[in-house]
Amino acid sequence: MKKPLIIINFKTYVEGCGDMAVSISKSAEKIGEGAGAEMIVCPQAADIYRVASAVSIPVFAQHVDPISGGSSTGHILPLSVKEAGGSGTLVNHSERRLKLADIDAVINEAKKVGLTTVICSNNIATTSAASALSPDYVAVEPPELIGSGIPVSKANPDIVRGSMGAVKNINPDVKVLCGAGISRGDDVKAALELGAEGVLLASGVVKAKDPAAALLDLVGFL
Ligand code: G3P
Repeated sequence: MKKPLIIINFKTYVEGCGDMAVSISKSAEKIGEGAGAEMIVCPQAADIYRVASAVSIPVFAQHVDPISGGSSTGHILPLSVKEAGGSGTLVNHSERRLKLADIDAVINEAKKVGLTTVICSNNIATTSAASALSPDYVAVEPPELIGSGIPVSKANPDIVRGSMGAVKNINPDVKVLCGAGISRGDDVKAALELGAEGVLLASGVVKAKDPAAALLDLVGFL
């Protein structure tokens, strides 16, 4: 079984904020290392520096804006994520949608400053469009399964297979992840069996009573 990439999005869950962001990230680092899985954490923007200072696994932003610096009060500058110790960013999450031209501008700016990019898509058509913009990863997440506890890799394997096929035709350099409702090792295993590189998940870890136990379960099949 190939080793999965597991990206944990802390969203704006209070359980994943401040000290708790650091604590979950340290568990992800330790458990990922022990199992040989690659873990990436996406804390809130204000926590990127403290998390990146505390762990050596990659820390991604949840969003950056399509800007290169200047008079854009309240926006997130890709360079500032990099300077804070971040090494990548989610783009176009279904809770933070962007226009196509803005996704393109974010990808270009992120590349310029050296951030890895993960475009989130909601179906096979948007996965195709996203892959044409040459991000490092596309993560397909059907919105109706987000936060549901019903794993996309089991409830809708066709969207994962279809996304893999679409990306292969358009831009085979782009790697495919899937997300929504993932919370158990079995869900991750099913994603890998469909050909995905790994998963993007949130509530299954961040809102778990015991996030470390949830992380251990995720890699238990390895
Ligand atoms: O970014 C990951 C996310 O949208 C999936 O959320 O809670 O279903 O794992 P969740």
